[in-house]
Amino acid sequence: MGVDIDAFELVKVEAMIRPFKLDDVKERLTELEVGGMTVTEVKGFGRTGGKTEFYRGSAYVIDFVPKIKIEVVVPAARSEEVIAAIREVAASDRIGDGKIFVTPVLEAVRIRTDERGESAL
Ligand SMILES: Nc1ncnc2c1ncn2[C@@H]1O[C@H](COP(=O)(O)OP(=O)(O)OP(=O)(O)O)[C@@H](O)[C@H]1O
Ligand SMILES: [Mg+2]
Repeated sequence: MGVDIDAFELVKVEAMIRPFKLDDVKERLTELEVGGMTVTEVKGFGRTGGKTEFYRGSAYVIDFVPKIKIEVVVPAARSEEVIAAIREVAASDRIGDGKIFVTPVLEAVRIRTDERGESAL
């Protein structure tokens, strides 16, 4: 896309995934030795919002579908590696597999030590 991601030191990879995939994604990301991650229960819809999507046997139509949002901040150079790892685990080739957004992170601060940037992860 427009701006080269390597122009930034850190990026946040934000992935909306199917809730039952969380354990596998966590395991995969832990293997990659990311410094940490934040997980939130969210609801949303994507471009196929108008179609029926199933969650735990129930059909959702044009409604918000429960997802899990994973946020992981990593060095920008690792962003494709993290995206690939999430896709490997979370993709089933069916609608509602989720979406990944990557955004620049301008600063990271480890509160206890005041370490900054990559050292803070
Ligand atoms: N453009 C968007 N902006 C913000 N959040 C989005 C966007 N698209 C999807 N999401 C989030 O990602 C979740 C998963 O989206 P979803 O996988 O259904 O995307 P999709 O574009 O409909 O693709 P698919 O055809 O695979 O279903 C949504 O429930 C929503 O939380
Ligand atoms: Mg969809």
